[in-house]
Amino acid sequence: MTETNRTAKLSLDGKDYELAVHKGSIGPEVIDVSKLYSSTGAFTLDPGFTSTASCESTITYIDGDAGMLLYRGYPIDELAEHGDFIETCYLLLYGNLPNAAQRKEFETAITYHTMIHEQMNRFFAGFRRDAHPMAVMVGVVGALSAFYHDSTDIADPAQREIAARRMIAKIPTIAAMAFKYHIGQPFVYPRNDLDFASNFLRMCFAVPCEDYKVNPVLARAMDRIFILHADHEQNASTSTVRLAGSSGANPFACVAAGIACLWGPAHGGANEAALEMLNEIGTVDRIPEFIDRAKDRNDPFRLMGFGHRVYKNYDPRAKIMQKTAHEVLDELGITDDPLLDVARELEKIALEDPYFIEKKLYPNIDFYSGITLRALGFPTSMFTVLFSVARTVGWIAQWKEMIEDPTQRIGRPRQLYTGPTERGYVPVTERKDD
Ligand code: SDX
Repeated sequence: MTETNRTAKLSLDGKDYELAVHKGSIGPEVIDVSKLYSSTGAFTLDPGFTSTASCESTITYIDGDAGMLLYRGYPIDELAEHGDFIETCYLLLYGNLPNAAQRKEFETAITYHTMIHEQMNRFFAGFRRDAHPMAVMVGVVGALSAFYHDSTDIADPAQREIAARRMIAKIPTIAAMAFKYHIGQPFVYPRNDLDFASNFLRMCFAVPCEDYKVNPVLARAMDRIFILHADHEQNASTSTVRLAGSSGANPFACVAAGIACLWGPAHGGANEAALEMLNEIGTVDRIPEFIDRAKDRNDPFRLMGFGHRVYKNYDPRAKIMQKTAHEVLDELGITDDPLLDVARELEKIALEDPYFIEKKLYPNIDFYSGITLRALGFPTSMFTVLFSVARTVGWIAQWKEMIEDPTQRIGRPRQLYTGPTERGYVPVTERKDD
């Protein structure tokens, strides 16, 4: 954070106040209101945090107007094109792309932590078969702290390190087990001779009755999807992880809180909701009906996979996801996916519609991911689980940054109170019957 030696002036009840203005390396400056209450007796109010920076961070930068996304300064399209998920995890955690030796050490550590404690298998049997896989993820990930006590002391840098690596390594195994439980197939153990994405696909789709050969094109697509979803500055689920972590909760519990928040259809649940919406639209000729509903303020319907709090331009991840959708469909010989036709036509119509243009509503990452994930063989109920597999490294990197910030304090927002003022207790015999 750099002092600008400039101040913002505030006048309240005839008194003038000066608030310090700080600037970062790029992006909007911030007006420091941390002393506002102590000096003016007033709070700020910003319910959706549309104008509020909750922290200082060096991990991810988004320019919503430019449609730009940087992980530690590297553009997402370059990482998706030239990199892979393991080195992206290293980059998000440690700040730089790994050299060959660093990558080898990190990848080996992750590979050798992919198994979970054998007793954890029993958790899955406690869920109804038709439980949503995200419910299983919240429960089982939260239970990790019951098995890995030796990495829950957040004050110990060594324990923070091992907890971060365990979380990144074990989340795909737990996700694959949630999927296998959901479809009634036996769990498949991870293998140490496969890369992250190949291991995950094999744990999801292999069965004991025959050998499973990972399709390298699909593994590359899966790996790229993980890169695209890895982090996204202070989104709702990352803010949830940070707030949970600010109380000193262990990292496994914090990630479980992040998974719970990601589940919402306005956030990570949008990929599942977007595919369900495309299914509901069904054919191109029904698109105008849904566009009208999306524009009707009295209709709660939203075009799922469209719009974003930050991106007021095309989500750069959506473009890469669209390209990945075509690669996967081509590889699988799916040349006539009607949902892809509906998606492309819906995007075209929406982007030409004055309502969407005026409100700067563009496709976001969730618009094309559903088509791709369905083609890979996942049911819609697994889409947000896949999002959480990727986002775990972002949550853990942001959690680590917060814990290691010497100025870090417990997050405790205030409120604008509009409830009853003080009133005396009334015995039940004297209460009115209205
Ligand atoms: C993710 O934050 C992140 O970074 C999230 C994420 C990540 O990587 O972590 O990028 C992942 O969550 C992507 C977003 C996935 N959600 C969806 O696709 C659900 C559909 N989108 C909307 O629910 C909405 O656009 C949000 C939730 C994404 C953003 O909500 P905002 O910023 O609070 O915007 P808003 O709801 O105030 O909308 C502004 C206006 C409103 O109209 P008015 O009240 O001004 O008249 O735009 C309209 C909205 O009605 N609008 C839409 C719309 N999105 C916004 N109208 C129709 N369809 C939509 N999709």
